[in-house]
Amino acid sequence: MIEIKDLGKSYKTDEVETLALQKLNLKVEEGGFTAIMGPSGCGKSTLLNIIGMLDSPTQGSYNFSGIEVGGLKERQRTAMRKGNLGFVFQSFNLIDELTVFENVELPLIYLKMGLAQRKEKVIQVLDRMKISHRKKHYPHQLSGGQQQRVAIARALVTKPKLILADEPTGNLDSKNGIEVMNLLTEMNQEGTTIIMVTHSERDSYYAHNIVNLFDGQIVSDSSNKLRAMS
Ligand SMILES: Nc1ncnc2c1ncn2[C@@H]1O[C@H](COP(=O)(O)OP(=O)(O)OP(=O)(O)O)[C@@H](O)[C@H]1O
Ligand SMILES: [Mg+2]
Repeated sequence: MIEIKDLGKSYKTDEVETLALQKLNLKVEEGGFTAIMGPSGCGKSTLLNIIGMLDSPTQGSYNFSGIEVGGLKERQRTAMRKGNLGFVFQSFNLIDELTVFENVELPLIYLKMGLAQRKEKVIQVLDRMKISHRKKHYPHQLSGGQQQRVAIARALVTKPKLILADEPTGNLDSKNGIEVMNLLTEMNQEGTTIIMVTHSERDSYYAHNIVNLFDGQIVSDSSNKLRAMS
């Protein structure tokens, strides 16, 4: 599904150039569950944003489902993102002025789906995330765990091929964290590919393989031994 070759990303600000990623090679198979780990500042979010087509590399190539992403125009990239990708962030990133229902409905409006169908899909996914009883609430009226379930519902409502999660349990207590990880695992078992950035040893256990980054480079890429042993 994903093939990254010699990828590099540098940021230039005034006089300094920061090399956030360098000579990075990565493959992610369809149906995989990959955890990206490494110390703060090593480039995890940068890599996830590039995979998520929110940012562009400055070097190398990124192929998604046989298409070279670097060769796409901004409009084509947006279309590709809308149809294929779902995002889950550490800070949930819900829109405060919209209700739970409206937050989850938004990606379907972007896809120009009709009202009746939207309603059906939103209710379905809110039920699944066990949050439909809060559909008229606003994000600030929810607990952290509930907000993250809404964010996952929003990522899932379009049935994306790939979910990108940046520290999805970073702001949750361990009970809610485990619940979120179980939901992601369920999605993965149903065929959604998952790439997740995490600092948590516990969360990395759920992944099939672990990529360790250090200073913008992959220092190891291995199948999950902990998991294989159990
Ligand atoms: N917009 C930017 N401009 C300049 N430098 C940046 C920018 N974004 C990130 N960087 C730099 O790139 C490097 C990688 O940042 P990144 O956010 O990918 O780290 P991270 O591994 O996600 O860290 P954390 O675990 O703290 O979230 C850092 O050194 C950071 O300072
Ligand atoms: Mg980060």
